[in-house]
Amino acid sequence: MAVKVGIVGAGGMADYHCTGFRNAGADVIALADMAGERARAYAASRSIPKVYDTLGAMIAGEPELQAVSVITPNKFHKQLVLEALEAGKHVFCEKPPALNAAEMAEMAEAVKKSGKVLMFDFNNRARPESQAMARYIKDGKVGRINSAQASWIRRAGIPGFGGWFTTKALSGGGPVIDLVHMIDLALYFMDYPEPAWVLASTFYDFMDNPAFKGPWGMPDTAGGVTDVESACHAFLTFKSGQSLIIRNSWAEMNERELVSVVFQGQKAGGKVERLFGIDGIDATCIDSCRLYLEENGNQVNQDIITEKDETMGRTKTAANFIETIEGKAKPLNTPDQALRLMHIIDGIYESAASKKPVEIK
Ligand SMILES: NC(=O)c1ccc[n+]([C@@H]2O[C@H](COP(=O)([O-])OP(=O)(O)OC[C@H]3O[C@@H](n4cnc5c(N)ncnc54)[C@H](O)[C@@H]3O)[C@@H](O)[C@H]2O)c1
Repeated sequence: MAVKVGIVGAGGMADYHCTGFRNAGADVIALADMAGERARAYAASRSIPKVYDTLGAMIAGEPELQAVSVITPNKFHKQLVLEALEAGKHVFCEKPPALNAAEMAEMAEAVKKSGKVLMFDFNNRARPESQAMARYIKDGKVGRINSAQASWIRRAGIPGFGGWFTTKALSGGGPVIDLVHMIDLALYFMDYPEPAWVLASTFYDFMDNPAFKGPWGMPDTAGGVTDVESACHAFLTFKSGQSLIIRNSWAEMNERELVSVVFQGQKAGGKVERLFGIDGIDATCIDSCRLYLEENGNQVNQDIITEKDETMGRTKTAANFIETIEGKAKPLNTPDQALRLMHIIDGIYESAASKKPVEIK
């Protein structure tokens, strides 16, 4: 029997969720969004039979519903995830998991009680390059990863001014929390070690300059709030002695948009990278995956050629959620990892605010 899924939020990611769920054989039976017009238009375009205003109404109206995906602004993730879990549904939620670690801890507790699946859309883990690299790491070719650098650097990519993305109370923060993917990917490659200390700086330049707006995101909101960082640089250590450097920006004087995880292992180094075209659109990017080795006394660079995935792993992650519910696959990410990630993000913001190193407990 096909898993019955309902989507909450007709945002830009809904299409990837819908396609991924259907690719895995699930039925997308309903959509909930209070923006009636947008929701009805989207549902009609993807033949989703029912539209509701709220998650509560969808749960009440669809007794067969087994799983819910949450694609709303970050502020609403926790309450919707808890509501769905309490109603006995499996949940797939967009990234970031929540506004902070305290919210994520509530979700982690709730999912344990429910016995259901809770996954987040850390879609970059499902990219073919990432999975190819993860396989080399798992097979022992890289050895222990001593150090890594996670970067999602936009030169001019503020996702609109004054909307929910730039309002800390609704988003939780700027590029640290929005472009969290490479931090998560580096931690995934490093096997999610226990963090020890973080030292971070955040910067707020260009947050009122239209020349630094990206080609994606939302229309500007006149009189809206813009109180999140435009860039962050951080150094993180782990109890194991490993370390991670983080660079995330929406707006910073860099050469171009660059998205990568680079690491140095005890047997080999490596890099997973996405170079965006000048327009910053996924379809024009160049993805690569490379290992740095020593063989027969020679220094060797090894390119790993993988299939192209313009969805950046988004449809594969949604499909993995369905396969996990069905017991056909292991989840690509877990609530415990999401909690560790949110503790790191809290530590980054705390260190930047206090201008001191912060111990992550
Ligand atoms: N994985 C990725 O690559 C990726 C990319 C972009 C956005 N996102 C994430 O997707 C989420 C949504 O972002 P977006 O850009 O699509 O936002 P958006 O504002 O374009 O769309 C959100 C939709 O949710 C609806 N909504 C809000 N609160 C709701 C509620 N309580 N119940 C029902 N519907 C509600 C809104 O009416 C709106 O239609 C965010 O968490 C964002 O971080 C992820």
